Amino acid sequence: MCGIIGYIGKRSTKEILLDSLELLEYRGYDSAGIALFPGEADAPFVKKVAGRVSKLREITAGDTEEACAGIGHTRWATHGGVSDANAHPHNQGRVTLVHNGIIENYKELIKEYNLKDKLVSETDTEVAAAIMDHFYDGDAEKAIRSTISVLKGTFAFAVLFADQPGKIYAARNVSPIVVAMTEHGAMLASDVAALGVHAKEYAFLPEYHIACLSSKGIVVHDEKKHEVPLQLMTIDWDTSRGGKGGYAFYMEKEIHEQPDAIRDTIMPHIVDGRTTFTAEGIPHSLFRENQNIIVIACGTAMHAGLIGQQLFHTLANIHTDVAVASEFTYTNPVIKPGTLVIAVSQSGETIDTLEAIKYAKKRGAKVLSIVNVKGSTIADNSDYCIYTQAGPEIAVASTKAFTSQISIFYLLAIHTARLNGMLEPEEMKAYLDELMTVPDAIEEILEKKEFVKKMTNKFLHADNAFMIGRGLDYSLLLEGSLKLKEISYVHSEAYASGELKHGTIALITDGVPVVALVTQSLLASKEYSNIREVQSRGASMILITKESLYKDMNIPEDDTFILPEMSDMFMPFPAAVVMQLIAYYTSYTKGFDVDKPRNLAKVVTVE
Ligand code: F6R
Repeated sequence: MCGIIGYIGKRSTKEILLDSLELLEYRGYDSAGIALFPGEADAPFVKKVAGRVSKLREITAGDTEEACAGIGHTRWATHGGVSDANAHPHNQGRVTLVHNGIIENYKELIKEYNLKDKLVSETDTEVAAAIMDHFYDGDAEKAIRSTISVLKGTFAFAVLFADQPGKIYAARNVSPIVVAMTEHGAMLASDVAALGVHAKEYAFLPEYHIACLSSKGIVVHDEKKHEVPLQLMTIDWDTSRGGKGGYAFYMEKEIHEQPDAIRDTIMPHIVDGRTTFTAEGIPHSLFRENQNIIVIACGTAMHAGLIGQQLFHTLANIHTDVAVASEFTYTNPVIKPGTLVIAVSQSGETIDTLEAIKYAKKRGAKVLSIVNVKGSTIADNSDYCIYTQAGPEIAVASTKAFTSQISIFYLLAIHTARLNGMLEPEEMKAYLDELMTVPDAIEEILEKKEFVKKMTNKFLHADNAFMIGRGLDYSLLLEGSLKLKEISYVHSEAYASGELKHGTIALITDGVPVVALVTQSLLASKEYSNIREVQSRGASMILITKESLYKDMNIPEDDTFILPEMSDMFMPFPAAVVMQLIAYYTSYTKGFDVDKPRNLAKVVTVE
């Protein structure tokens, strides 16, 4: 977590840093800070504050715009509470730095280097700054190398040395850093999202390499101190998609971007009416030979995996497990020859997923990842990668990345079934044709968003909510429930409808909101009974269903959202959008900062 930024160039350093930090706030927003290096005569000065970048903007309002270099940071607190002192940058002697990651052995290092009396914060980062100062004798690269050789854990550093104006040094292990030359200067950032408006190309800084940014350009040295060229990648995200585009929050905008995101994600993989992944260099054998699939992911991405699991079972008859990435390595997963691991991640940086990938590879599995951020660490560490084309997702709560991820699972399941002779050409065509109608179905939902908003009245004063469904509906509700929890702070549990009576139904009392999702025709009659069970205990119902199943449900129209009619298998798409809107409007109406829910960050780079 945490976002870091660095800039050397002709524009106002302060403004570039502040604007970029705002774009990085999704990585953490407990505190923010910048260090500006005024020039030859003056050492870098630090301004930092607990709170958002907007607060940092206020306290730096009168400060100089100009600087020969600057670094900045937005924090998601790990070591040390949320305070001005713990905010970055940290300064020790001639070193001023910002850090993203966790230094696991910082306590041992405090003792070993006798730093206790020098430190003014409770952070692991300040320890790194003190050690770097200890090693610094005028050779910045040597000091950085010596420092990172004693650190255990993950780090991305951007460093200013007081006697080296006009230079920013950077190094990383696991936590990402991207660098870019722009028309007006050199930049580094945790994520390309912060560079998009300035740069057309960028490069990932490889692990344990050291970058030096100056007005002359960017020089990168490998561990043997040899200069290595930047592996440049094009920023092909439409930067005009940046900004909120007139919506109140990024989340609302991103919900609306789903038709395009899905279209852009699926269309390159449907050629002449057939699925294809040849552009990604994925051999057919990957899908033919595997005997089982394990999906690893966290949070929303894991929920996408649950939908994928059912598709692989239904269409391709392939045994598929879904593992929470943070648990995967501790549960002795059965990895046999031919096991295919599919890792799913929007950011491509989630450390739990990354560690699970490394573990799976060590155990001999092939890893295919489904990732949104190009060139990210997870993409880089996978044998094969399929990119979702959702574009930058800024709101912490994932929306368009989720529906793009599941659209890849639909394609993969159809593809696997095709390659294994389990789909007739007409069947495949019918599935692909219907998949291509998903964007239109989502547009239909978006036109009825005001109706969803009205339905959310039921959640405004609720502390608890329940969501019930079966099969694909249950998997989808796990995601809907997470959305509601994380941004509106209503405690919500998704339950397999049949499981409710085995304990949890004890919590259904008068007025408790219960969402029932009923889109699977074969399960509708059983679901009907489960709805009656909670209704008769006082539940305040919201029904989400399709017209063909509604007539039997006996719930008033005002409490019912009718989804566009699609085959059962495709219903998770429209249902996902309704669930996202429910969460969005509940949070919005309660007056919360929808995009930046408390305690959360968009990119989770701590285990
Ligand atoms: C919830 C949400 C998270 C992420 C999870 C994995 O709305 O966004 O649950 O899905 O942190 O992140 P990625 O997909 O970046 O690996």
